[in-house]
Amino acid sequence: MGHLTGEVSYSKGLEGVVAAITSIAVIDGEAGKLIYRGIPIELLAEHSNFEETAYLLWFGDLPKKDELENLKRDLIEHREVPEELVDCIKKAPRDTHPMEILRTCVSMGGCFDTDKNDNSRGANIRKSIRLTAQMPTMVAYYSRARRGLDIVPPNSNLSHAQNLYYMLTGEIPNEEISRLVDVILILHMEHGMNASTFAAMVIASTLSDIYSAICGAISALRGPLHGGANERVLEMLQEIGSVENVEPYIMQAIKEHRRVMGFGHRVYKAYDPRARILKEYAERLSKEKKNTKWTQIAEKIEEVMIREKGKKGIFPNVDFYSGIIYNLLGFPKEVFTPIFAIARVVGWTAHVLEYLQSNRIFRPRALYNGPLDVEYIPIEKR
Ligand SMILES: CC(C)(COP(=O)(O)OP(=O)(O)OC[C@H]1O[C@@H](n2cnc3c(N)ncnc32)[C@H](O)[C@@H]1OP(=O)(O)O)[C@@H](O)C(=O)NCCC(=O)NCCS
Repeated sequence: MGHLTGEVSYSKGLEGVVAAITSIAVIDGEAGKLIYRGIPIELLAEHSNFEETAYLLWFGDLPKKDELENLKRDLIEHREVPEELVDCIKKAPRDTHPMEILRTCVSMGGCFDTDKNDNSRGANIRKSIRLTAQMPTMVAYYSRARRGLDIVPPNSNLSHAQNLYYMLTGEIPNEEISRLVDVILILHMEHGMNASTFAAMVIASTLSDIYSAICGAISALRGPLHGGANERVLEMLQEIGSVENVEPYIMQAIKEHRRVMGFGHRVYKAYDPRARILKEYAERLSKEKKNTKWTQIAEKIEEVMIREKGKKGIFPNVDFYSGIIYNLLGFPKEVFTPIFAIARVVGWTAHVLEYLQSNRIFRPRALYNGPLDVEYIPIEKR
C-alpha cells in the first residue's frame, strides 16, 4: 500500500536518527566520553563551576573575567520570582510533585517576563538567564513549603550552587559541599539530543516561545525513563534495604524483565562518565557522613548488573549515584529530578538558541499500518 512514497526508513524511538547539527556537546557512547564545547566533562568537573560552564554552553567559549562577572551578576539579580508565583507555590496542594510546580511556575513566570513577546536572539538569551536564575527559587520555595518550613529567600552573596543548597536546607554550605553541588550541576547541564532537549527544540521550532519550550522539556524530563529515574533509584535502594537482598532482588527483576533504575542508556554502551565521577563523590561523602549503607547496596547492585548485563552494554547512568548524594546532603527525594532540571535548563536553552539560528520546523512522518477504503456505516447500523 502506497502510504509513503520514496525511500523511507523507520527507527523506533528515533534510535540513530540525526535530527540536528550542534557544536554544544558530543557523546562518544562506545568510549564513555562526554564533551562540552570541546572540553571533556572530567576537566570541567574538576576546575569549573556552574556559572562558567553555563557561559561556555550558551556562548561557545569559556568566559573572560568580566564576562563571567556579568553573567554572575545577571543570575543573582533575577533569582527572585514574582509575588504571584510565591502565592501559587504556597497555595499548591502539598501532594503536588515539585516537577509539576516547576512546570507550572515556569509557565506562569513566562507571563511576567518583560520580553515575553520578543522572540529575538537577544531576548531569548535574557529569558534563558532569567529562567536559569529563577528555577532554583521555584523548586526550593515549594520544597520548603511542602515540608511545612518557612521559605528561604535567595542570598545574593552566594554562588548559584551555594544558593541552591542554602534555599533548600536553610544552611550556608561549606567549601566542600559548595564544590560538590557545582560538580553535580555541571554534570547534569547538557547531554545532546536527549528526550527533554528534543522536546524543547520541537516546540521552539514552531517559533513558539522559550518558556513554552522549557515547560515541554520539564514535562519530558519528569518521566522515570529519563530524569525521573534518580528518585526511583533511592526508592529501589530503600526497598532492597540490605546488601544481602541485592542479589535475589536484581535476579528477580531481570527474570521479570523489569528495568533496573539508574542503568542503561540509549547512547552509552560503556560506563557513563558522569556516573563514574558521581560514584567517587558518593563514596567519599558517605564515609564523611558515616552512612555507607546506600553506597554499599549500590555497589553490589552495580556488580550484579554488570555481571549479568554488562555484555549488553548496560552500565550505571548519571541517575544511579546522584540520588545517594542528594540523600546524604539532606535533600528530600522529590527534589532530585527538579535539581536535574535546574541544571539541564542550560542545555535546553543552549540548544534552542542554537537551533533557532537556522530554524526549520520539526515534522517527521509515521508509517501507516491501518486499513484503507473503510466504508462509513451510519451510527444506527453499527
Ligand atoms: C535509559 C533507557 C530508557 C534507554 O532505553 P533504550 O535505549 O530504548 O533501550 P532499550 O529499551 O531498547 O533496551 C535495550 C535492552 O537493554 C535492556 N535494558 C535497558 N535498560 C535496562 C535496565 N535499566 N534494566 C534492565 N534491562 C535494561 C532492555 O530490556 C533491552 O533488552 P532486550 O534487548 O533483551 O529486550 C533504558 O536503559 C532504561 O529504561 N533505563 C532505566 C531508567 C533510567 O535509568 N533512565 C535514566 C537514563 S539517564
